[in-house]
Amino acid sequence: MAGGIGTRFWPYSRRKRPKQFLDVLGTGRSLLQMTYDRFLEIAEPEQFVVITYRKYLALVKEQLPELKDHQILSEPLRKNTATCIAYATYRIHSLDPEAKIIVTPADHLILQEKKFTRTINQALEAADSDRLITLGIKPNRPDTGYGYIQYIESPDNIAYRVKTFTEKPNSKLAKTFVESGDFVWNSGMFVWKAQSLIKAYEECMPDLAEVFEEGRAAYGTAKEAEFVSTAYTQVKNISIDFGIMEKSSQVYVILGDFGWSDLGSWNSLFELRDKDENNNVVDANAVLYETENSYIKVKGDKLVVVQGLENYLVNETDNVLLICKLDAEKKFREFVSNAKKKG
Ligand code: GDD
Ligand code: MG
Repeated sequence: MAGGIGTRFWPYSRRKRPKQFLDVLGTGRSLLQMTYDRFLEIAEPEQFVVITYRKYLALVKEQLPELKDHQILSEPLRKNTATCIAYATYRIHSLDPEAKIIVTPADHLILQEKKFTRTINQALEAADSDRLITLGIKPNRPDTGYGYIQYIESPDNIAYRVKTFTEKPNSKLAKTFVESGDFVWNSGMFVWKAQSLIKAYEECMPDLAEVFEEGRAAYGTAKEAEFVSTAYTQVKNISIDFGIMEKSSQVYVILGDFGWSDLGSWNSLFELRDKDENNNVVDANAVLYETENSYIKVKGDKLVVVQGLENYLVNETDNVLLICKLDAEKKFREFVSNAKKKG
C-alpha cells in the first residue's frame, strides 16, 4: 500500500511526494524501495503488487523499475485501506483463487530483517482456514495513532485468537490498555488467503464486497480502469481496521519483535536516529549553542546558527520553513490545511 499522504511528516513529506517515496533514513533508498528489498527475501519480483493513488503512479514506476505495469494498481480516488485492499484482493483472487496475500504499508521501518522474515513465514503458515493474521507489536507508550489488540493466551500457539481490536482509541483508553499489559499494537501488516478476506468483506462490509465482486470480468482486461473509476465513486472512505479488523471473529495475532517503527511522526524518526552529545539530530551545516533534544533538518548547504532551542523541530524545504515543538504531532493536520490556504 503506497497511496497515503504522510501528513505528520510535513513539510518534508508533501502531497506531491509523500514519505513512502522519500529517502527518510539517508540510505539512498526510499521507504517504498526498502520495503520492496525487504520482501525480496519472501517473494519473487513478479509476485509483488503495489497499489497507489493515480498521481503517484509515475513515482512508483520510477522507484521500482523491476515491476511490470500490471503489478502496479492505480486508484482514481483516495478511499482508504479497506478499499485499496479490497480492490487488490478481488483482482488477485480472480486471477489466482488459491493466492495467499501479505498486506504491508510501504512506509515502515524494520531493523531486524531476519527475524522479520521468520515471523512473516510463520504468519504464512498460520493463515489457513479462514484466519486473518495480523502482526502485533509490544507497545511502549499510549499512542492514540495505533490499533490496540487484546488476545487470548494459549501457550502452545503461535497465532493467538484476538479478543478485542480497538482502532485509534482516545488517550484515556490507550493509557488503560498499555498499563494493563494485555494489549499489543496492530502493526498494520496482515497475512491471509485471498478467499478468507473475501469472506470477511462479505460478512463485515457487504456493500464494498458487492462493488468489487462485480469487477471479476474486468480484472486483468482492458475494461479494468473504467470499472475501477466507477467502483471508487460507490464506496465509503474507511480503513481496514475499522471496517474488518474490529468486527471479524476470525482475527488472530502473531507477536513480532523485529525493531519495528511506523515512522509515523518526526518524534518517532528522531528516536531512531543517532544523536550528537546534546541529544540533537542535525541534518544541516549547523552550529548549535545551548540547544538540546532538537531535530534540525535544512535543505542545501547554507550555514544554520541555532541558540537556545530545547525539544524543537526545525525543518526547511524548498518553500516551507517549519519551526515547532518536536512532539507537536496533533497540530500537523491544522498546519497543513492552513498552509494550503496561504499557498
Ligand atoms: N493505496 C492506498 N490507498 N494506500 C493507502 C491509502 C489509500 O487510500 N490510505 C492509506 N494508505 C497506505 C499508507 O500509505 C500506509 O502505507 C498504509 O496504507 C496505512 O495507512 P495509514 O494512513 O498510515 O494508517 P495509520 O498509520 O493511521 O494506521 C494503521 O497503521 C498502524 C500502524 O502503523 C492501522 O492499521 C493501525 O491499526 C496501525 O496500528
Ligand atoms: Mg501509518
